[in-house]
Amino acid sequence: MSAACANPVDLAGKKIIVTGATPGSLGFETARTLVSWGACVVVTARSNPDAAAEALRARLQDADARRRVDAHKLDLSHNDSVAGFTRWFAGTHGDRLDVLVNNAGIHLDLLSRWKEPHLTDDGFEIQWRTNYLGTAHLTRLLVPLLENTGLATGDARIVNVVSRLHFKGSNDDLFETTRPYNSWTAYGNSKLALVHMTTELQRRYAQKSQVHAYCLHPGSVFTNVAAKGLEGTGVVEKVRNALSPIEAFFLKTPEEGAQTQIYCATHPGLRGGLYYDECQPAEVSEDAAAVEVAARLWADTRAWLPA
Ligand SMILES: NC(=O)c1ccc[n+]([C@@H]2O[C@H](COP(=O)([O-])OP(=O)(O)OC[C@H]3O[C@@H](n4cnc5c(N)ncnc54)[C@H](OP(=O)(O)O)[C@@H]3O)[C@@H](O)[C@H]2O)c1
Repeated sequence: MSAACANPVDLAGKKIIVTGATPGSLGFETARTLVSWGACVVVTARSNPDAAAEALRARLQDADARRRVDAHKLDLSHNDSVAGFTRWFAGTHGDRLDVLVNNAGIHLDLLSRWKEPHLTDDGFEIQWRTNYLGTAHLTRLLVPLLENTGLATGDARIVNVVSRLHFKGSNDDLFETTRPYNSWTAYGNSKLALVHMTTELQRRYAQKSQVHAYCLHPGSVFTNVAAKGLEGTGVVEKVRNALSPIEAFFLKTPEEGAQTQIYCATHPGLRGGLYYDECQPAEVSEDAAAVEVAARLWADTRAWLPA
């Protein structure tokens, strides 16, 4: 087990959203730690948020902590779901939010069998739509609540879980199709776009309203992501499932993998606008460092999202 790099911080009175907190995921372990440090945490799942909340409560020691868990359904690939979630949050939890952990994500077609992109109902490549566009939509709707907190307390945060695979993305691909379809580069593009979003959020909101943005690579972690990415592959899926205990042995546990996102969400005075790995600032790809692309992507994203 690698050492924990996030040290406990008193989070009493803080309100945090962690997207994608299904049991066995990075989001679940992130939420578990944040609640146990005193925060009130809203977890989301696409399929069964109540089961996620129940599983989380079952892992918490005291009754007070269990009462600080709430849950709601969120499907990032549907505008109505994103808008409905933010309306529910404001109606139930008020107009302030301390931390948004944008953790939910998918990595599909791990065998690169798809020759054409799988599209969502509204016509976007599914990983781009879920990992980037849906997350951008959610973030923009919640920024006013984060600004309320930032202006009042001097510290509100947006934590974007990206991946080292953003190195596979290309700035050219963010605006038009430049290469034959490959699910790994599509995933890389979605994470590259989130690195750019982090840069732009920091530029726009850090000084103005003390909302700081972070992105991070959690490492290679044994979660549900590989099982989902191999769904429908027949023998490969069966073999992988049979051998998954060996795979788990070589990867980080979700608890270990969640360290850097917990650190970004909580470490006092942490510098924003950066990409973290193992709780340390790390180099981004050359494409991700192009700040003018971050600004252009922000503007284009406005056009892709509902008014
Ligand atoms: N595991 C790794 O090695 C690794 C490495 C680098 C980066 N990451 C990133 O870490 C994040 C967490 O992944 P994980 O490894 O914990 O995977 P996971 O166990 O598969 O968890 C992913 C979570 O995202 C949710 N989700 C999936 N599609 C969604 C949608 N359309 N709308 C809203 N939520 C959705 C899932 O909810 P349902 O279960 O209800 O679908 C689940 O709670 C992802 O952003 C991933 O790209 C992971």
